[in-house]
Amino acid sequence: MLKKFKIKTFGCQMNVYDSQRINDVFYKLGYKNTRIDQEADIYLINTCHIRDKAKQKLYSELGKIYIIKKNRLKNNLNTICIVAGCVAQAEGKEIFKRAPYVDIIVGSQSYQKLPYLIKRIQDKNKKNKLFIELDFEPKSKFDNLPKEKSLNEISSYLTIQEGCNKFCKFCVVPYTRGPEYSRSVDEIVNEAELLVKNGTKEIILLGQNVNAYHGLGPDNKEYNLGKLIYVLEKIKKLKRIRYMTAHPKDMHEDLYNAHRNLEKLMPFLHLPIQSGSNKILKAMNRNYTVEEYLKIINKVKECRKDIVFSSDFIVGYPGETNDDFQKTLDLVDKVKYVQSFSFIYSPRPGTMAYNLRDNYKEDEKKQRLNILQSKLRFYQENFNKNFVKKSLEVLFSNSSNEKKIQSLGYSQYMQLVRINNKKNMQGKIKNIRIKKSFYKSLEAISTV
Ligand code: SAH
Ligand code: SF4
Ligand code: F3S
Repeated sequence: MLKKFKIKTFGCQMNVYDSQRINDVFYKLGYKNTRIDQEADIYLINTCHIRDKAKQKLYSELGKIYIIKKNRLKNNLNTICIVAGCVAQAEGKEIFKRAPYVDIIVGSQSYQKLPYLIKRIQDKNKKNKLFIELDFEPKSKFDNLPKEKSLNEISSYLTIQEGCNKFCKFCVVPYTRGPEYSRSVDEIVNEAELLVKNGTKEIILLGQNVNAYHGLGPDNKEYNLGKLIYVLEKIKKLKRIRYMTAHPKDMHEDLYNAHRNLEKLMPFLHLPIQSGSNKILKAMNRNYTVEEYLKIINKVKECRKDIVFSSDFIVGYPGETNDDFQKTLDLVDKVKYVQSFSFIYSPRPGTMAYNLRDNYKEDEKKQRLNILQSKLRFYQENFNKNFVKKSLEVLFSNSSNEKKIQSLGYSQYMQLVRINNKKNMQGKIKNIRIKKSFYKSLEAISTV
């Protein structure tokens, strides 16, 4: 009988991309994907360590897997349980201590080693052997993962850069993903061309600091993100290009020019500021001021008039006073973000901010978060409202058929758009009229 695998993914887009690559690894080993827990001969959890809550998701998931594994064993079925990703990297063997039924722990840059690890587990004699790989080897990872793609998607992620050298004081990423690494231009173009051949119309270039990209070009010169986008723009059947997550410090002239000149580069930029107070930005080690950030925003707008912005925010960083918080609210009023992610600061073991404490209460932090989120929501709703009775260009990514009469897609401004009709719109870019607007989506007028 064909063996099956299941992958459960937590965390950011980079983990989603990694899970797709792991998917390809398992396919190549002769396994088939399943959605049903009890069917999985391999159960892999790709984890996130960014906030404590994200980490806890691993342990609640492991509790579930323990029971599945036990039940399958009653029917003489083995389950290989694998913990991958950022918690694996950060906690390593500690995971075996808390959950001894985990078989393999594999860090975020070692997925090329999965076939070897699985083979060794199957050859067995597991006693006293720890199946764990935590080296930072992004080059080896990208060089050795299968080139074949088992997924055909309209909108595809493509990781071009890994890791981070910035060490913001609150953040685990430099420890869970390792130092910065950029893939070569050729490698990225080849992968992009393969995706497009398989039907992809939109590529979202990924990196923890995607605009810190500095990969080697075919001429042996370094390419920055702006130059790379100029190269990708030439792929004929590729219709849209996006990138995330950009760091304000790494914006550069070629990237501004790409926004000015390249139609395929979409007018939506995720540019996290974290806080609107210079004092807090300094304490976080973000290395820019609010004034510098606003200059960048204005410069991007000069290049592309209709561009819109989104951001991440951290509320309740140690030392944040009411005055600091007010400055974050003022900043939101200035930029009028159309999307956002905002969280209460979560102290992470091993980071520089971990030992910083302050004496304001959890309730106060929640209150600040609520105030910030309702302001962010106001601007997002307002932005979406603007499009009612107007037309938007939408790339449809899922299909519609006789049973499923809804198609979903994204506008150039990253708004989710729904349309009720029976036509198969998958892969098409259509100019459609918007009927209704919501906080996080738009509804278009049915065309049937
Ligand atoms: N490289 C990106 C962000 C990557 S992490 C940047 O520098 O902007 C994604 C987001 O998680 C961050 O932007 C931040 O808002 C949030 N985050 C990271 N560490 C956090 C922590 N300890 N507590 C709360 N939020 C955190
Ligand atoms: Fe984390 Fe800062 Fe690096 Fe972003 S730039 S990944 S927040 S350390
Ligand atoms: Fe989480 Fe790792 Fe991404 S910590 S946010 S999955 S880089």
